[in-house]
Amino acid sequence: PRPVYFDCDTGVDDSVALALLLASPEIALVGIGTVSGNVDSTQAARNTLDLLALAARDDVPVAVGAHDHLSHAHDGGVPHIHGHNGVGDVVLPTSPIEPDPRTAVQLLLDLSHAHSGELVVVTVGPLTNLALALRADPTLPERVASVVTMGGAALVPGNITAVAEANIYNDAEAAAEVAEASWPLTLVPLDVTLEHRLDEDDRAALLASGLPLARAIGDILDLYFDFYVGLYGTRSCALHDPLAAAIAIGLVTPTVAPAVPLVVDAGHGPGRGQTIADLRAPRTGYIDHPGVTTRIVLDTDRALAPVLIERLTT
Ligand code: BDR
Ligand code: CA
Repeated sequence: PRPVYFDCDTGVDDSVALALLLASPEIALVGIGTVSGNVDSTQAARNTLDLLALAARDDVPVAVGAHDHLSHAHDGGVPHIHGHNGVGDVVLPTSPIEPDPRTAVQLLLDLSHAHSGELVVVTVGPLTNLALALRADPTLPERVASVVTMGGAALVPGNITAVAEANIYNDAEAAAEVAEASWPLTLVPLDVTLEHRLDEDDRAALLASGLPLARAIGDILDLYFDFYVGLYGTRSCALHDPLAAAIAIGLVTPTVAPAVPLVVDAGHGPGRGQTIADLRAPRTGYIDHPGVTTRIVLDTDRALAPVLIERLTT
C-alpha cells in the first residue's frame, strides 16, 4: 500500500475523507497533521483522534499543526457549517490517546524521510503546514511522490468569496508557496467536488451500519446537510475532502485533468485566494507549458457516493 500523510482541519467532510482513507487497503495512513480552518488545529486533532478511536486505529500518529496562518491569525472557523466543535456538534467518545509530541511539520518531514520517494501527501485544509515544511526543508518535494489537494475554484465561483475557495483563501500565502514548489500537485477544486454528493439515503445507510465510525459519520453529517439546503435545495452535501482522498487512493480517476500553470493570488484585493489556472492551453493547444507539474481535476470517471458508502459501511 502507498504511504499517505493526511493534512486536515477536521471538519465534517474531513471526517468522511478520514473514514474513507481508513477503509481503503490500497493505502497505508502513516500520519496525520492538523491545521486551523473549520476549527482550530488543536480541536481538529481532538476530533481526528476521537474518530480514529471509533475505528480502533490508535496506531496512526496525529500531530497538531499550525494554529495561525502565515500572515494572519485563525479566524475561529465556521460553526454554522461544521458545528462549534467541527464535527457537527456531535459529542464523540473521547479517545485516551494524546496528539503526537511533534508538530505536523516535523511529522511530515520525518515521514518524507521514512517513505522517501513514495509518500503521498493529501491535504484537505489550508496549506499552512505544507508551506512551513517547505520553508524548513526546501528539499521536501524530492522525497514526496505526489500531493493531492482539495482546494480552489478553476472555472466556477468560489465558496468564501466570489472567486476564492475556503482552503486556499484561508492561507493564500501558503497556497501560493505550495503551488510554486516543484512537486506533482493534483488540485481537486470546487468545479469537481460540487458534482459529488451524499444524500439522505446515504446518511441512512451510514446510520444503519454495524460499524461505530460509520454511524458517527451519519450523525456528524446532520448539521452539514442543513447548510447545503441553500445550495442544492435538498438536505445533502458536497464531497469536497472525500474526493481528494478518493483520487489519492485511486478509487476515482480524473478524466479531465490538464497539466497547466497554476498561480494563487495572495494579494489583498478582490482576487485574494483565487486559483488562476491557465486553461487556455488544453483548449487551443497553442500554448506550450514545459515542466508544468500541476494538474487541475475537472471531471472524474465515476460517482464517488456509492463506492464511498460501501467502503464506510462494510
Ligand atoms: C473546504 O473547506 C472546508 O470547510 C471543507 O472541509 C473543505 O476542505 C471546501 O471549500
Ligand atoms: Ca477540510
